[in-house]
Amino acid sequence: MRRPFVAGNWKMFKTVAEARVLITELLPGLTAIQGVEIVLCPPFTSILPVAALLEGTAIGVGSQNMHWEASGAYTGEIAPPMLAEFCKYVIIGHSERRAYFGETDASVNRKVKAAIEHGLVPIMCVGETLAENEAGITNEVVTRQIKEGLNGVEAQFIGSMVIAYEPVWAIGTGRAATADGANAVIADIIRALLAQIYGGEKSELVRILYGGSVKASNAVEFFRYADIDGALVGGASLKASEFIAIVKAAAN
Ligand code: PGA
Repeated sequence: MRRPFVAGNWKMFKTVAEARVLITELLPGLTAIQGVEIVLCPPFTSILPVAALLEGTAIGVGSQNMHWEASGAYTGEIAPPMLAEFCKYVIIGHSERRAYFGETDASVNRKVKAAIEHGLVPIMCVGETLAENEAGITNEVVTRQIKEGLNGVEAQFIGSMVIAYEPVWAIGTGRAATADGANAVIADIIRALLAQIYGGEKSELVRILYGGSVKASNAVEFFRYADIDGALVGGASLKASEFIAIVKAAAN
């Protein structure tokens, strides 16, 4: 049985002062929920204070990005060992990074492997754009992203990874995929491909999330599907009541 997993991607929101307020609002609700792996991914500047506030709870901290090198002359970048001091997770290949910061399947692959090497759990994001969806090539796009993103990742590490299926057209638009449509990609494309590459037993260990306009009002529809193991939540993770309700939906 896979443990449900809900991550909040705060994107480029919240100063440290604002982060402290949000954590204070989140803690009573989130700590009362059992059986869900909960992860908060604040901006770099808030990782340390958020990690301090979450100490002693079961809530994990994640980063939204990182470099693949362990150190070096890469001005403005953050290295895996720097994150590993405070984080257990790292989001890799979010569509906003792919669209605005030149991330490719090749850079995603280097980052996934670097995360594993440094003991971080990668939350690898995949998903088709609106144009790709309308052209009917979702299968090809997602298959390529998974194959190239995981290229060289050994079977022994796959089970602890998290994959997020986030159709780009659903992110921040208020227009979520249908639960049925998300399940079709997650079960029939992603998990089936993982089974092909790593075998059925390993593929059953991987948590696969849906992301894209998940809210308290629609979360439960996604979590009804056995292959959808949770959610990567953007906008709604910035509102305590919304995020708590989504995590509760995953627990049930
Ligand atoms: P959204 O973002 O929930 O605001 O659509 C999801 C994400 O970008 O991970």
